[in-house]
Amino acid sequence: MPKTVLSCIQPTGKLHLGRYFGAIKNWVDLQHEYDAIYGVVNYHAMTMPYDIKKLIPASWDLAFDLIACGLDPEKIFIQSLIPEHTELAWIFNTMTSYGELSRMTQFKDKSAQVEDGGKNAFISSALYVYPVLQAADILIYRAQYVPVGKDQEQHLELTRNIAQRFNHITGKEFFQLPEPLFTEIPKVMSTADPTRKMSASLGDKHHIDLFATPERIRKQIKSAVTDTGSAGSEMSPGVENLFSLLKATGNQDTHQELFDQYYQGQLQYGHLKQVVGDALVETTEPIRERRAEILSDKKAVKNQIKASSAAIRVRAQETLKEVKDLVGLLNVRYH
Ligand code: TRP
Repeated sequence: MPKTVLSCIQPTGKLHLGRYFGAIKNWVDLQHEYDAIYGVVNYHAMTMPYDIKKLIPASWDLAFDLIACGLDPEKIFIQSLIPEHTELAWIFNTMTSYGELSRMTQFKDKSAQVEDGGKNAFISSALYVYPVLQAADILIYRAQYVPVGKDQEQHLELTRNIAQRFNHITGKEFFQLPEPLFTEIPKVMSTADPTRKMSASLGDKHHIDLFATPERIRKQIKSAVTDTGSAGSEMSPGVENLFSLLKATGNQDTHQELFDQYYQGQLQYGHLKQVVGDALVETTEPIRERRAEILSDKKAVKNQIKASSAAIRVRAQETLKEVKDLVGLLNVRYH
């Protein structure tokens, strides 16, 4: 049996190149080797202030985007179609201490964001307990590996602690401890401020939308910050970022060639940008095409995602049934 890999993504904001090269591309590769499951986690998207009217379209759009990127639709689920996740999270809440949740650095960061955000916003208790829901997302499929970025390391550690505590409390080695998969992934920085990670929340100038038109991609690369201040012997973060993007597109030879030129002092940034822009347009071309196809028959694709969520749900139900037995809860009879 191939091992199970699971990862999830929140339907907040559009997919940009940072998310694609930093996560999704790797997911596409992993699905061929592993029993892979990927979730669009809409319950997580409710932990920050959000727009009710936009959540459903955002969830579908993200699922479409993932398929356009090359994920197999059968491996994708939408979290709210599998209510067992939130049910398991409640059980896990009873096994998670207030103290360990208080140490989550992402909670501190995000609550600061909420406080900056507006007068009616408040920090919800869902934001506080959200790592517990994440643990449920992972353990409900008994996933062995979780491909995530370093920013999720603490949540993975918490997931392992919860699994261990569950096993201890119930006296059964029920959950295996999942491991993070930190693969070597390019760090894509903002093109407007290359000292910061590319992120949608920084604003339009900072990230390149994965589905942007070729013209827009080229234009954004053209206006990318390169050298700031005096050019020393060290490569500036902006130039380094352009090189990372080029490498991420898989053009190793060109990358090496331009890299050598740079160190010989012969590289023109205009040329580098031209090459990076072309490479990005080429890499994203099939993704744009597939997305256009999906949009021409949204209904069929939605039905596909509903069906795969239903199939994946069966696995979640099996785990939850056993969990409820183990912790002393009456069970629903599903069939
Ligand atoms: N917390 C993750 C993030 O913010 C998203 C996520 C939710 C996740 N559940 C997960 C990631 C389970 C991996 C596994 O990016």
